[in-house]
Amino acid sequence: MRNNKLALSALTVAMIALASSLHTIDAQRVHVVGDRLGWIVPPGGSIAYSTWAGLQVFSVGDILLFNFTTGQQDVARVTKEAFDVCNSTNPISIQTTGPANYTLSSAGEYYFISTQDEHCFFGQKLAISVNQASSGPSASPAPAASRTPVTYIVGDDLGWIVPPGGKIAYETWAYDKIFAVGDTLVFNFTTGEQDVARVTKEAFDTCNSTNPLSLQTTGPASYTLNSTGEYYFISTLDGHCFLGQKLAIIVTRGSPGPPSSSPVPPSPRAPVTYIVGDHLGWLVPPGGPIAYETWAYDKTFAVGDILVFNFANATQDVAEVTKSAYSGCDTSSPLRVISTSPARIILTSAGEHFYTSTYFTHCSLGQKLAINVTDFGSPSIAQPPSNALSPAGGPNGAPVPFNSASRHAALGFFASLAIAFASLFVF
Ligand SMILES: *[C@@H]1O[C@H](CO)[C@@H](O)[C@H](O)[C@H]1NC(C)=O
Ligand SMILES: *[C@@H]1O[C@H](CO)[C@@H](O)[C@H](O)[C@H]1NC(C)=O
Ligand SMILES: *[C@@H]1O[C@H](CO)[C@@H](O)[C@H](O)[C@H]1NC(C)=O
Ligand SMILES: *[C@@H]1O[C@H](CO)[C@@H](O)[C@H](O)[C@H]1NC(C)=O
Ligand SMILES: *[C@@H]1O[C@H](CO)[C@@H](O)[C@H](O)[C@H]1NC(C)=O
Ligand SMILES: *[C@@H]1O[C@H](CO)[C@@H](O)[C@H](O)[C@H]1NC(C)=O
Ligand SMILES: *[C@@H]1O[C@H](CO)[C@@H](O)[C@H](O)[C@H]1NC(C)=O
Ligand SMILES: *[C@@H]1O[C@H](CO)[C@@H](O)[C@H](O)[C@H]1NC(C)=O
Repeated sequence: MRNNKLALSALTVAMIALASSLHTIDAQRVHVVGDRLGWIVPPGGSIAYSTWAGLQVFSVGDILLFNFTTGQQDVARVTKEAFDVCNSTNPISIQTTGPANYTLSSAGEYYFISTQDEHCFFGQKLAISVNQASSGPSASPAPAASRTPVTYIVGDDLGWIVPPGGKIAYETWAYDKIFAVGDTLVFNFTTGEQDVARVTKEAFDTCNSTNPLSLQTTGPASYTLNSTGEYYFISTLDGHCFLGQKLAIIVTRGSPGPPSSSPVPPSPRAPVTYIVGDHLGWLVPPGGPIAYETWAYDKTFAVGDILVFNFANATQDVAEVTKSAYSGCDTSSPLRVISTSPARIILTSAGEHFYTSTYFTHCSLGQKLAINVTDFGSPSIAQPPSNALSPAGGPNGAPVPFNSASRHAALGFFASLAIAFASLFVF
């Protein structure tokens, strides 16, 4: 009962945080379909909207905002059957004036397409799954589209204190957890004795509490993880952070991550395998470079992650190039080329990485991908057991010393990395 109550209040906090960040009232959220892409025929095909939808959690009462130009687009809600075959003959409802709001009034699956000629076939279609409302009178915690939001008690029974054994306490605690958008952290502390501040990485590293991003002084304090990325928390009280009252986590996405061929042990940031372009694969994209820009837009790439390029042997390849080669589409001296599909590339260093094709005009026609790779500073990632294939570590790749406890925990992680590295030898 107690836990339910806690989860509920945490959820309420989550809803309020999200709602206020989107300038709405109550627990109602507005989802701008496709974000800045709007509602159009997406350049790279339907992956644009399936990718977008995969990163959202939809609840009853939320609004979908289809942002389009009246006269150029429309949006129709249809059945699953009509969605699958792009049949716009007899839609459930249709809106022809943009931007169009659609209120998700009940739980279940919703299918939207454009009724305009061929638009649906080219990917202007959206399928979503709406969860039970979370703020109604009979509210129960809303299951996420692909994962129920989790409320984590930081440190579990330890609570949020100066940990007896130093910062390893919270490192260990965070190590086997997966944090996703929508999850909530509860810092359980006694008001007046502790506090918790979200800070930048720099402030976290140096225990600088001068100018925190946010500060909560009343315990227990809830913090909802409303976007992907790195989060750093410290105590601002004298000496507390230096003594180890600090927590760094990485929020991946709304689900535990795409399926992986080998079992990946949970960690703050288990390596993710990305299929570049998803179903589109790696080719000269129909709509130009925006296809891969759109694909990369919402993703977080970390050292240790793997990019898989699926392409046609003999008529395609993938080349890693410098930034200037990428910008100018000069593929005369690539850093490396892989000409056999599928090409698996392990991201071994932080910073910007650029990929294109060495085939004539492919790059200028949009077969190019630029990504930013983050080094989350996990030593098991930054320093794989065999670094024969790891060129010179990333700019931020300074390894963090870690003790035998976390080393032990990281063993499984090493094993999966070893498998990943072994597969690199194939190419
Ligand atoms: C809708 O699209 C227009 C034009 O791209 C843009 O200016 C506007 O900000 C968008 N509205 C929303 C709510 O995203
Ligand atoms: C499209 O749907 C309508 C009714 O909703 C149906 O009569 C028609 O046969 C369907 N067309 C195709 C090609 O499936
Ligand atoms: C759509 O919903 C948003 C948020 O509730 C509101 O600001 C906007 O005016 C609505 N637009 C239309 C066309 O109803
Ligand atoms: C918070 O800490 C107090 C005191 O240690 C404990 O009684 C309570 O159960 C904790 N709450 C949670 C949610 O763990
Ligand atoms: C702490 O951060 C503030 C601003 O956030 C900065 O002005 C100050 O120099 C920093 N102090 C140290 C010791 O780095
Ligand atoms: C996340 O929450 C913080 C604080 O609650 C807020 O400042 C920020 O705008 C939110 N971000 C998003 C993407 O909603
Ligand atoms: C490309 O060639 C490799 C090696 O010959 C083969 O294993 C792979 O299946 C081929 N891939 C495609 C997409 O044809
Ligand atoms: C990488 O991030 C930096 C800093 O945010 C930004 O200036 C740069 O454009 C990004 N590069 C890519 C390829 O996204």
